[in-house]
Amino acid sequence: MKKTSQIPPVNGKIAVAPSVLCADLYQLGQAVEMVKKAGADWIHVDIMDGHFVPNLSFGPALVSSLKKHTDLPLDVHLMVTNPLRFIEPFAKAGADLLTVHIESEDDTAKALNAIRDLGVQAGVSIKPDTHPDVIKPLTDLLDLVLVMSVYPGFGGQAFLENSPAQIKQVRQIINASGKKIWLEVDGGINAQTAKIAIAAGADALVAGNAIFSSADPELALKQIKQASPAI
Ligand code: DX5
Ligand code: ZN
Repeated sequence: MKKTSQIPPVNGKIAVAPSVLCADLYQLGQAVEMVKKAGADWIHVDIMDGHFVPNLSFGPALVSSLKKHTDLPLDVHLMVTNPLRFIEPFAKAGADLLTVHIESEDDTAKALNAIRDLGVQAGVSIKPDTHPDVIKPLTDLLDLVLVMSVYPGFGGQAFLENSPAQIKQVRQIINASGKKIWLEVDGGINAQTAKIAIAAGADALVAGNAIFSSADPELALKQIKQASPAI
């Protein structure tokens, strides 16, 4: 399938991916236009199956609708027990990057290969209690590692204290692999925690509540994008 947008190669800049889970869905189109204008790099789409996480969200229809109307790359985060069942429908719907959880029930290498075979970029995500070493055997198959800095399932939670340590370990693994792999952090990101995550080694940040519940969402996004590392 021909792709019109792609997650670009790692380029030393910080990518910001607003999570539409936290947008007012009645105004979704306007929300996407707004974040694009404010400098969003990707759109983060959270897929929840009510089993891997205790919440339900969207299916391929939303991805297909977003794809029709925006050229921002679609960064699709599969919080599902059986990602293998859903890779093809989300790829066909227009996902540019599909991330699966290593804690899911399916074989992660198989899932990553299935994603790549469909011409889609591939990511793996780890939950807060998962040891980063589990990604070591997978680095050849990865475009992105997604570190969850909250327990997945809901927007609006606080950035966990032990996340910087996990992010640092993932950064070391990525650097040691010699591959160009994005390190994305997801959960509780705002202008302050963005600095902490970047200092620990993140180069892509998901933000939901901090943007969409702000009185000035454009400013909130710009502040996250411009966050320089905390020392
Ligand atoms: C949580 C999701 C996140 C969430 C981010 O399970 O994966 O992407 O929407 O929302 P905030 O930024 O509010 O934590
Ligand atoms: Zn997410």
